[in-house]
Amino acid sequence: MSAKGSFYITTPIYYPSSKLHIGHTYTTVAADVMARYKRAQGFDVMFLTGTDEHGQKIENVAKAQGKAPKEFLDKVVAEIKDLWKVMEISYDKFIRTTDDYHERRVQMMFEKLYEKGDIYKGTYEGMYCTPCESFWTESQLVDHKCPDCGREVTKTSEEAYFFKMSKYQDRLLDLFENVEGFAEPKSRVNEMVNNFIKPGLEDLCVTRTSFDWGIPVPFDPKHVIYVWLDALSNYVTALGYPEEVDGDFAKFWPADVHLVGKEIVRFHTIIWPAMLMALDVPVPKKVFGHGWILLEGGKMSKSKGNIVDPVVLIDRYGVDALKYFLLREYSFGQDGIFTNEVLLNRLNSDLANDLGNLVSRTVAMIEKYNGGVIKKGSAVTAFDASLSALAEETIGKVEERLDKLDFSTALDEIWKLVRRTNKYIDETSPWALAKDEHQKDVLDTVLYNLAESIRIVSALIQPFMIHTSRKIWTQFGLEEGDLTHWDSARSFGLLPEGLQVTKAEALFPRIDVPKELESLAALGAPVEAPEKEEKKEAPVPKENAKDKASADSHGAPQPAEISIDDFAKVQLKVAEVVACERHPNADKLLILQLKAGEETRQVVSGISKFFEPEALVGRKVILVANLKAVKLRGVESHGMILAAADGESLGLLTVDMPSGTTVS
Ligand code: MSP
Repeated sequence: MSAKGSFYITTPIYYPSSKLHIGHTYTTVAADVMARYKRAQGFDVMFLTGTDEHGQKIENVAKAQGKAPKEFLDKVVAEIKDLWKVMEISYDKFIRTTDDYHERRVQMMFEKLYEKGDIYKGTYEGMYCTPCESFWTESQLVDHKCPDCGREVTKTSEEAYFFKMSKYQDRLLDLFENVEGFAEPKSRVNEMVNNFIKPGLEDLCVTRTSFDWGIPVPFDPKHVIYVWLDALSNYVTALGYPEEVDGDFAKFWPADVHLVGKEIVRFHTIIWPAMLMALDVPVPKKVFGHGWILLEGGKMSKSKGNIVDPVVLIDRYGVDALKYFLLREYSFGQDGIFTNEVLLNRLNSDLANDLGNLVSRTVAMIEKYNGGVIKKGSAVTAFDASLSALAEETIGKVEERLDKLDFSTALDEIWKLVRRTNKYIDETSPWALAKDEHQKDVLDTVLYNLAESIRIVSALIQPFMIHTSRKIWTQFGLEEGDLTHWDSARSFGLLPEGLQVTKAEALFPRIDVPKELESLAALGAPVEAPEKEEKKEAPVPKENAKDKASADSHGAPQPAEISIDDFAKVQLKVAEVVACERHPNADKLLILQLKAGEETRQVVSGISKFFEPEALVGRKVILVANLKAVKLRGVESHGMILAAADGESLGLLTVDMPSGTTVS
């Protein structure tokens, strides 16, 4: 074990039901930065992520595709792993709840709880919706009907196993009230205590008999284990519990922090600790419930125009920029709104202007005035002390913020140093010093201080943006080692004389925002993602009803209403696909030649995943005809075609009318 000790951080395990959007990646990016930061500090880190693969929804989706659940899952899980690769998520372990060891260990945990008497057999009574195969409590019903499909429900009772949550009510209350930092931010503590614990916890129904795709109760296999029990257990089964408790489990448990979205805080701060208490296992040190990234006009899963596909954003701006944006723009505990414009403005101001310019100006001046060599002047300017003091103080402030999972202000502390260093250039005016031979020593000092300040910035940004750090080190002739290490940011003045700087491309090219917004709007076909859904594979106990309400109420606002005049601005026409080919530089895009009446148009569309080019020729589609032309990956696109998508499949809107006909 390292001298600093161990650090165990987890993300929620993801539903592999469809494509992940940037909202999902928020938790993982944050966990990744924490893991990198702790490693940089010298901790022995375990960073766990994975997938939550059981339940009726998965079974249904797989069935709809004519696949066995595992076959369907293997493909989607591979896609999720690919995404984490593209996003450079440095997890140490990836758990799937269908992994044999997990299933076996969950069964052992269930058995332990049963033997102890904390799980018992009883009868569940509730309202059942047959088409949805879902149980609901009275309070969840809408007009006495199923809240999902609006159909009649019937009072049903079934044999089921229950977990004695009520037994742990007092200990849970004590945990919230007396264990500092257990649930954060503080606002979530009050919500849990006042809305769930104090009104009284009921025993939780933890099995289901109406579907098979789950972990069977070992001694009564017609029941499968409630998916939340199964899913939450991943945090310890991944470490070996309860089979092997001397290895990773002894080293890493209790977890330092479970990072979760706010809608699943209740599961992590009530059900999970109660299970652990029943098993005589310590509870995690902290559960942090972060806010949601939402869209102004609707749910992220229904995004039109705003690009919420992380791969598209990384493709255009790079992984460092996306990670920086997500953690700088939004305050971790709170909700925030995503738009393309917010993204582009943030990248321009902080990355292209503040940091990018600082590095390129400094390198250019060292090349111009000192032949590219870093020299240590012996003169002192009136501005050096405040620069070096801030540079040395910054690491402490960043650590304090990061230890509180306050990523945004941690970055802001680093950027205070970036901006202070830019100001130092203005204060010392190196170009004026360069004109006077007597000021050569002062000029050397100034250029050295600039380089040294940049070195400290580059060490501090490495948990967030390792590529940018490395690009800076290359430009300043630094090898990775003592001078780039996290702790090297504590001392100003470590940079040796004689290093050779080399000019390189801009770290972050300035974005032409209006132009880029147009391109993004044209790219902005719907990006599908799973709807946030209450796990309803097991009958839902009463307190879940409250949770469902809160999960729904965090939802995004409905799209704004438009008038008929607004709608009339969109010109829709029937167009025939006369030719179609793949885009030479983008796998996802097809280039279509469309004939609308007399006119032939070229439209680039992100539908190649769903259609072979030849299959589209001859089809009549609906063209948005008065959309401004843009270039997509270098190919002109004039208009767009309409389609309906649900995540797994996509249907083109077609109509059997002559090409050129106006659609209204
Ligand atoms: N499978 C459960 C977790 C079980 S953990 C024992 C689950 N999965 S999920 O795929 O729906 O969500 C994974 C994470 O993504 C959650 O933390 C959720 O809050 C987060 N996000 C999904 N959409 C989000 C936003 N739009 N914004 C921020 N995070 C959101 O829940």
